[in-house]
Amino acid sequence: MIVITGGSGFIGSRLCSLLCEEGYPVRIIDIAPPPPGTTAEFVRASVLDFPRMHRLFAGAEAVIHLAALVDVQGSIADPFSDFQVNAGGTLNVLEAARKAGVEKVLYSSSAAVYGNPKEIPIAESHPTAPLSPYGLSKLTAERYVLLYNSLYGMKNVALRLFNVYGEGQRPSSPYAGVVAKFAEAFSEGRQPEIFGSGRQTRDFVHISDVARAFELALHCDGFGFPLNIGSGKETSLIELVELMVRIAGKKTQPVFREPKAGDIARSCADISLARQKIGYCPSVSLEEGLRSLLCPEGRGGIGLEAI
Ligand SMILES: NC(=O)c1ccc[n+]([C@@H]2O[C@H](COP(=O)([O-])OP(=O)(O)OC[C@H]3O[C@@H](n4cnc5c(N)ncnc54)[C@H](O)[C@@H]3O)[C@@H](O)[C@H]2O)c1
Repeated sequence: MIVITGGSGFIGSRLCSLLCEEGYPVRIIDIAPPPPGTTAEFVRASVLDFPRMHRLFAGAEAVIHLAALVDVQGSIADPFSDFQVNAGGTLNVLEAARKAGVEKVLYSSSAAVYGNPKEIPIAESHPTAPLSPYGLSKLTAERYVLLYNSLYGMKNVALRLFNVYGEGQRPSSPYAGVVAKFAEAFSEGRQPEIFGSGRQTRDFVHISDVARAFELALHCDGFGFPLNIGSGKETSLIELVELMVRIAGKKTQPVFREPKAGDIARSCADISLARQKIGYCPSVSLEEGLRSLLCPEGRGGIGLEAI
């Protein structure tokens, strides 16, 4: 059995569908309701509840730990809650797994651990300098995850995810990626908002490539270092809007707002280590991923008529 904490969320629900389709027995643990239509077992529980995690992990082959507070601005407003869930919750999960005899915890770390990168593409050896409590709690948790390999002989893997996008991402979430926000603006007939010049770049990786990366990591023996999971491509926000507009087949101009404090200028993953260690090879181009998001089954998609 594979346990997925945070399995009701954007990444968790997609990963859960993939693993269920491939015949893995899956147990989701989340404080939110289960993903609609899931065939996985669902248990409503918090990762902060150690005794329940210990019981629920018994007999699992691996725990994929995705549960987290993912709101970067929220972490600045309330660093304590962010630390409790993201760092404390991860330590709970690790201890519960170790004591339940689970060999492997796969962890969803974040590109936020790098802060403002000095070099592009960003390799895992790049210094870490998080700019928010969220980035710091993800880094702290990641360090615990990897320390458990050397201390207790676990086979844990930490994946540093870049900007994940795709179907199922809630635009209303404060953390929602810019792709979901732009798609929502299109569907409501609004102009997409860009904070700053639009020349800032991101590495957009499709949700199906991320789900596949976790599946690949299930089959390896763990490492003492994290692995970057991105597309390996750098795209500016202006390029992103232009591509989305072209796919939609309509014209709209972005509206430019004041830059957000702490917004990083560039981001792009060096994915060669993940390729070498787990055979990770992203297969969905940004154009294909956006097409399937905006025009599912070749139809209008997310209210493209409104653009
Ligand atoms: N989406 C991205 O671009 C991205 C990038 C880097 C890292 N990550 C990481 O990937 C993971 C999943 O992110 P997501 O985008 O699917 O976010 P999400 O908010 O959609 O999912 C997180 C899930 O965790 C659950 N959760 C929160 N607190 C919990 C608790 N105490 N106990 C049990 N469940 C709890 C939430 O209910 C939610 O279903 C997170 O750890 C996040 O830090 C995401």
